[in-house]
Amino acid sequence: MSVNISIAYHSGFGHTERQARAVAAGAESAGATVTLHDVTTLDDALWSTLADADAIIFGSPTYMGTASAAFQTFAEASSPIWADGGWRDKIAAGFTNSAGINGDKLNTLETMSLFAAQHGMTWVSLALPPGGQFTTTGSEDDLNRLAGFLGAMAQSPSDADAENAPATPISALRSTWEPASPRSPCRSSGAEQFSRVPDGRP
Ligand SMILES: Cc1cc2nc3c(=O)[nH]c(=O)nc-3n(C[C@H](O)[C@H](O)[C@H](O)COP(=O)(O)O)c2cc1C
Repeated sequence: MSVNISIAYHSGFGHTERQARAVAAGAESAGATVTLHDVTTLDDALWSTLADADAIIFGSPTYMGTASAAFQTFAEASSPIWADGGWRDKIAAGFTNSAGINGDKLNTLETMSLFAAQHGMTWVSLALPPGGQFTTTGSEDDLNRLAGFLGAMAQSPSDADAENAPATPISALRSTWEPASPRSPCRSSGAEQFSRVPDGRP
């Protein structure tokens, strides 16, 4: 039976939405059934789908060093579910994207993991070895080039248009693990978190 994953994300300007689509593509390539939900719409359909999910993956841009206000509104709106233990024992994971290479993204992932913990969910970390400048032979095209562990981090230059650079968002994000493809300005998408088991840890 296919694992049912819901991706609950906010994206103010489209960059984190591209990351969400890459995460969805990774999960689908591993055989999961995936639904994407923009959490700026807090309707019955959202809560119903999340209730049915085996796993919920949270996504938000990092704004002012934490999850966006829209994501936090969603988190607070889930409090009736918290009261009923509705998401208890579901699998949780998270991703974030920001303009800075660091950008205080870790705080966003910590916020998400605490949010999941409040719901009694089981947080799944990135489980990818560190890439990029972690070693002198690393490359900007490595998986996990931002070398985080709690969740998937992506970086989008603040002047890069989410829709037009490059033209095909999902395939561009996949260039993270297809070195022959053109580089994306939104790298380290973390989609492969959900599509492969790494050979080993650092
Ligand atoms: C209100 C606001 C606050 C931001 N704060 C940060 C920040 O703390 N760190 C950072 O690296 N980038 C920050 N950024 C840049 C965004 O994280 C970046 O542009 C991101 O790609 C936007 O994602 P989105 O298109 O999904 O909204 C901020 C942008 C906005 C609009």
